[in-house]
Amino acid sequence: MQTPKLLLATALSFAIFAGCAEQKSDTIKIGEYASLTGATASFGQNAHNGTLLAIEEINAAGGILGKQIELITEDDQSKPEEGAIVVNKLIHRDGVVAVLGEVASSISLAGAPICQENKIPMITPASTNPKVTQVGDYIFRVCFIDPFQGKVLSKFANENLKVSKVALLTDIKNDYSVGLAKYFKESFTANGGEVVAEQIYSASDKDFKAQLTALKSVELEAICIPGYYTEVGLIARQARELGIDVPLFGGDGWSSARLTEIGGEALNNCYFVEHFSQKDPNPIVQDFVTKYQAKYNALPDGMGALGYDSAKILANAIKNAGEVNSEKIKNALAKTNGYKGVTGTININPERNATKSAVILQIKDNEFEYFATVNP
Ligand code: PHE
Repeated sequence: MQTPKLLLATALSFAIFAGCAEQKSDTIKIGEYASLTGATASFGQNAHNGTLLAIEEINAAGGILGKQIELITEDDQSKPEEGAIVVNKLIHRDGVVAVLGEVASSISLAGAPICQENKIPMITPASTNPKVTQVGDYIFRVCFIDPFQGKVLSKFANENLKVSKVALLTDIKNDYSVGLAKYFKESFTANGGEVVAEQIYSASDKDFKAQLTALKSVELEAICIPGYYTEVGLIARQARELGIDVPLFGGDGWSSARLTEIGGEALNNCYFVEHFSQKDPNPIVQDFVTKYQAKYNALPDGMGALGYDSAKILANAIKNAGEVNSEKIKNALAKTNGYKGVTGTININPERNATKSAVILQIKDNEFEYFATVNP
């Protein structure tokens, strides 16, 4: 038998719980998984900053369908296994109606099957590996994909660097890196270029001297490194120490202010593909840059911009769905067309990928300068 005191406590806690549950139903719960800590923390932190800025703006303007958005963010520590765990939590513990994330393709590939199985729409802001959206009809992205990015790199090598002998240095443990290396090679060789040497490394390696020494004995005009900033900065330093002075270039995985903190001067006159340029005079971009800077006291990178666009596109789809229903939101997302985002005009194609342009940035004295725009 419970004592009256205990009964009262139980009744009270029930009342509080019931009150909470009712209040929660007034919000639209959106989940987000991001690498807030771990190896590629700058990806997750910046994407999250962009996402949060978008959600705060939407809520300040009255929310969607008369409801406020509640963003529930989980840190996957830059690990695919952890990504799967937190996506399960977001869906089963929190009951989110849609999921935003991840940035890194390998982690999105761990989270996407769980969203698909549970029929919860997922939008990755920045995973560019084609396999991610191939998981199923609930998986979308607001960025371009690597077959396009590979072409952008190859065109750049051909037309801007004017090189025909290029070496590849690939992170063999990273789906994104392996894919982008393959697409670059296909496109570059189809256009008469030659991949004169291929070397591999693994994420979190610190010493690249063996691979670089091997490359030093080969006649080459540039090195393509389709990896993440964490290793690219170190590779650049060690390459220069060994006297390799050709330009290095790579994909969006270079995008982080940490890149030049690690690589410093070794990265002068190197180039990478990005999703947007902070220096783009387009008022949509400049408005975003001003707001981001005011909130975070830092300039946004491609990741911040994509995080922002992904949240806005999801909010738009919820509005167009007319109700907070995952299947209807999925259908509305599939119809996204002509959305004017910070990272360009976003059209979701039948494969649930975004068709849009890419930007090439040049690194000069630790600054990322706008170099060119490449259209699909
Ligand atoms: N495109 C990378 C991937 O798929 C992630 C990334 C996006 C990195 C944008 C930097 C900027 O793994």
